[in-house]
Amino acid sequence: MKIYKATDYKDMSRKAANIISAQVIMKPDCVLGLATGSTPIGTYQQLVEWYKKGDLDFSGVTTVNLDEYKGLPRTNDQSYYYFMHQNLFDRVNVNPESTHLPDGMEPDSEKECARYEELIHSLGGVDLQLLGLGHNGHIGFNEPGEVFEKETHCVNLQERTIEANKRFFASADEVPRQAYTMGIKTIMQAKKILVVVSGEDKADIVAKAFFGPVTPAVPASILQMHNDVTLVGDEAALSKIPQ
Ligand code: GLP
Repeated sequence: MKIYKATDYKDMSRKAANIISAQVIMKPDCVLGLATGSTPIGTYQQLVEWYKKGDLDFSGVTTVNLDEYKGLPRTNDQSYYYFMHQNLFDRVNVNPESTHLPDGMEPDSEKECARYEELIHSLGGVDLQLLGLGHNGHIGFNEPGEVFEKETHCVNLQERTIEANKRFFASADEVPRQAYTMGIKTIMQAKKILVVVSGEDKADIVAKAFFGPVTPAVPASILQMHNDVTLVGDEAALSKIPQ
């Protein structure tokens, strides 16, 4: 695993955006696995800036997102569809038809998860997967559990996740209780993985996930088994990892 220590959030965002840019420049028709949450927002801003300067071209890129709330329409400003369009897709020249997320409005979980899993395979897999990290060690919406859930599936969100995400909704009651997410195997099949972490409140989970035992109780710990992971964090988030 490669670890890049950034001085602050802005520096973390630039470093992460540099890695994504390199991927797009080296393979203009790459498949990018994308993430939501507050951590990657700065990374997307930086990519948009470089696109506007003419340094980046997303016209050949295909994207697949990690997850989506079940039951939220695309027009809801808390859907990940809305987030991605707002933060990236509507601001660069990616072909909208080449951007993919699970369909939160498909009520048949089995059908939707099978469709999404099949889609990722049909694209030939993910070249670079961007990941944030939940406070309980979740990646995508793979919550801590007894086993690593392998493929795209429907999850019941844990109380802690609902709590953490309620800041974006009018109240905790409005946070959806379920989501569709790529599974651990789906994520682990990405050729390269880039994890972004920021802030002191992530320091404990970063140390646990990357330097503790590999266990489904900390879903991100599985990343220790991947052969091409880059962790980019600011000083606060990396403050508890062994020197
Ligand atoms: C959400 C997302 C994850 C994200 C995590 C951390 O629940 N499903 O993909 O990584 O929360 O979010 P943040 O970056 O806001 O801390």
